[in-house]
Amino acid sequence: MHNASYYKGLFFLITCFFITLLLISPVAQTDSAKKILDKEEEIREQMLQITQELGVTCAACHEVNDFKKASKPSFQIAREHLKVVQLLNSNGFDGKHGPQATCFMCHRGKLKPDYTEALLKKALKISPPHNK
Ligand code: HEC
Ligand code: HEC
Repeated sequence: MHNASYYKGLFFLITCFFITLLLISPVAQTDSAKKILDKEEEIREQMLQITQELGVTCAACHEVNDFKKASKPSFQIAREHLKVVQLLNSNGFDGKHGPQATCFMCHRGKLKPDYTEALLKKALKISPPHNK
């Protein structure tokens, strides 16, 4: 027959075994991998959003066989405009106390926003065409 301290010892050994299993399990190692995935997920969401806001497909800016390539002119412009939107977001246009800056605020679902339209209307108001 085994005495109480035998069972205590056995229990202790089994506990140690499971703690060791926990420590060497991949859970401890997935932390950094998760961060990268979060970043990828973030990029994915952002890309889907700008695609909708400009009314285009990914191919408008990307070589679809290599998304890291920066060869298309629209990619370069988009990068500049991403900075503009970021700048606006970090200077009050963050959607918390008012409007949030997005591509849509200018592009309105079009790759080439018609930014002369508003100016033209204004110009016509100030100096209506003279047709005497
Ligand atoms: C209006 C232009 C535009 C559209 C449309 C667009 N992207 Fe992008 N994409 C960019 C720019 C600019 C960057 C670089 C962002 C940066 O430098 O932070 C980028 C970055 C990326 C990256 C990261 C590349 C790297 O270097 O790691 C991926 C992946 C990506 N886009 C996928 C997509 C997918 C998928 C779509 C379609 C759903 C899409 N993009 C639509 C402009 C665009
Ligand atoms: C403050 C207004 C404004 C914002 C915000 C803005 N854009 Fe633009 N974008 C413009 C204007 C205006 C043009 C047209 C410039 C031209 O025709 O020369 C343009 C042109 C572009 C073009 C080139 C289109 C082409 O092929 O001629 C791309 C690509 C683009 N924007 C991407 C973006 C993306 C992506 C965002 C959001 C991250 C964004 N823009 C946000 C005003 C804006």
